[in-house]
Amino acid sequence: MRSDLPLFPVAASAEAREVDLLFLATVLLSIFFASLITALLIGFAIKYRRRPKDKPPAAIHGSIVLEILWMVIPLFLALTVFVWGADVYFQLSRPPDDTVTVNVVGKRWMWKLQHPSGRREINELHVPLGTAVRLNMTSEDVIHSFYVPAFRVKADVLPGRYTTAWFRATRPGRYHLFCAEYCGTQHSGMIGWVEVMEPEAFQAWLAGGAGEISMVAAGERLFNDLGCTTCHSPGSRDRGPLLDKLYSSTVKLQTGESVPADEAYLRESILYPAAKVTAGYQPVMPTFRGLVNEEGILELIEFLKSRAAGGEDVEAPVAVPPPAAPHGKRPKP
Ligand code: CUA
Repeated sequence: MRSDLPLFPVAASAEAREVDLLFLATVLLSIFFASLITALLIGFAIKYRRRPKDKPPAAIHGSIVLEILWMVIPLFLALTVFVWGADVYFQLSRPPDDTVTVNVVGKRWMWKLQHPSGRREINELHVPLGTAVRLNMTSEDVIHSFYVPAFRVKADVLPGRYTTAWFRATRPGRYHLFCAEYCGTQHSGMIGWVEVMEPEAFQAWLAGGAGEISMVAAGERLFNDLGCTTCHSPGSRDRGPLLDKLYSSTVKLQTGESVPADEAYLRESILYPAAKVTAGYQPVMPTFRGLVNEEGILELIEFLKSRAAGGEDVEAPVAVPPPAAPHGKRPKP
């Protein structure tokens, strides 16, 4: 696509081509039918215009063949676009298994990003070329929307829950990052850059963060500082469940329900402990609302994830997994 025309923004991810194809097809289809209908309209208006000496022509009373044709053809076309669109939508909304996660916190009026290694960024996101990057996003105040036109990625960022987007960059370069949801006075200034780097350059960049500890290590520190160990440790006389194998397991609740222990569940249990109480335990956990911010919660979750993955070396920065690494496991540095 031509990049000097603002109609065709540069395509820098594998998914961008899929989105563009679908968009192009629907536009061409619309142009075709709009032209056809307009031409017929004008043609018939001329052909059947009222002439002073003519008698009115005989009225036509229906045609089964025509009726079926103009129902079946549009139905077929609409369903084709629907199925195609659904397929692209599923691709965009389901990250592959081999992703690296970057945590994103939207805040009036900036983007705060953190890599698993602990490296933090504001309004800038560095990503390696060819690696699938999953964004785990939340907001500290109002609704924002993370939008990178070059990747055809746009996802709302909501307070109080996690939303996900993902992309695999296919072209090195710097691409615009926008907030695409009106969020107050400085909404238009809530912009930044995504920098796609060659993998080696990215690794060097990632290692360049001074004095940063990994998210897992920061989460462990928080876990201790907040006193979580008081109840969630083997010696705590069963006041709280052990959290070692919690992440991505299924939790049985007091109510008899079972829920998956995903990121949303962990976040809720930290902020609203009474919402989902594990079967066999009392709702005695205090809330940590106001004691830990969204970034802290993300670090705690990374720590709990690492515990579930068998515990990793918390001091070493987490490297980018090779493309075939199984989900939830990162190679040992
Ligand atoms: Cu954030 Cu608009």
